[in-house]
Amino acid sequence: MKNILEKLEQRRIKARLGGGQARIDAQHARGKLTARERIELLLDHHSFEEFDMFVQHRAVDFGMDQQEKIPGDGVVTGWGTVNGRTVFVFAKDFTVFGGSLSETHAAKITKIQDMALKNRAPIIGLFDAGGARIQEGVAALGGYGEVFQRNVLASGVIPQISLIMGPCAGGDVYSPAMTDFIFMVRDTSYMFVTGPDVVKTVTNETVTAEELGGASVHTTKSSIADRAYDNDLEALLQMRRLIDFLPESNVGEAPVLPTFDESDRLDISLDTLIPDNPNKPYDVKELILKLVDEGDFFEIQGAHAGNIVTGFARIEGRPWASSPTSRWCWRACSTPTPRARARASCASATASTSRS
Ligand code: HXC
Repeated sequence: MKNILEKLEQRRIKARLGGGQARIDAQHARGKLTARERIELLLDHHSFEEFDMFVQHRAVDFGMDQQEKIPGDGVVTGWGTVNGRTVFVFAKDFTVFGGSLSETHAAKITKIQDMALKNRAPIIGLFDAGGARIQEGVAALGGYGEVFQRNVLASGVIPQISLIMGPCAGGDVYSPAMTDFIFMVRDTSYMFVTGPDVVKTVTNETVTAEELGGASVHTTKSSIADRAYDNDLEALLQMRRLIDFLPESNVGEAPVLPTFDESDRLDISLDTLIPDNPNKPYDVKELILKLVDEGDFFEIQGAHAGNIVTGFARIEGRPWASSPTSRWCWRACSTPTPRARARASCASATASTSRS
């Protein structure tokens, strides 16, 4: 028995190394964490329960049967908690075939999607991947079909959150595009249908990864990304903060949290902040920060369309989503239960001034 357990532990140690120490070092040298390090930071300490750690690909074409099979097949999946609330998570492991999606890799993700939907809990995808595994061809594309189908089924039922943490291409940007929130990491993450090298080969056009799909492009021009962060650590900690503002599903409610901000707090600056003259500008973000609990406002799409401010905050510990145009607020406002409607205070906040 002891021998079996030792062998199992050896297999686990090997699986945890993903594509090997050299690729892990390369990942760190690029300022990126590994898939497992990211999950560790995202979830509550020791709460992660991993599934399918030893799954391997089944491909035989293009010499894949000759290559060493890496346990886990490029994605780490499981569930855990964020501030005590259940979330399902998958993290692409760039050290294994560039995190690309094979038939078995897809099956690991769809299993987590199914479990999240069944348990009515949010799903968070940490993306750092090169799209469909080229060597698997149609089997990989079929895998994406299964993932996309579940993105659609989960839409409006559970929160789906994507965090782009590396150079993501192909299906690894199509799927996040169908989720509720997309966040990026500046300078290390990119979202494009195909990378600069392939663009150069096919169209002879020279373009940098940043120009093609960097965080600056997607937070300001395309507005595909809701927000960008300076590094993996900041991005993951902010995801924990976002989860606190969200209901677990369309039948749940976002948690009411204790607040030190007195509900009858007087702020005399509010008397003058909105000018009597409607043609005089004022900063609506300043207004939001003064109204909400402890000045804690989670802004969404702050770098895009500066004439409207959207995001999440709390009033008297209850969550509050600004702007009926925001995707989650729209769902909260249009929910048929009167109780939920009363709880979700929604308001649009249109900026009258240009914001810094
Ligand atoms: C298999 C892949 C891969 C892929 C990367 N790798 N992408 N392996 N399939 N799609 C492997 C590389 O061979 C390499 O292996 C390792 O991952 C790291 O890749 P690099 O190129 O060295 O890294 P980097 O320079 O950072 O560039 C990352 C990249 C680039 C921008 C993602 O690899 C790239 O452009 N890949 C192709 C992207 C692409 O065109 N994907 C579209 C797939 S089609 P080693 O062994 O050297 O470590 C698709 C369609 C979906 O997704 C449609 C659904 C219906």
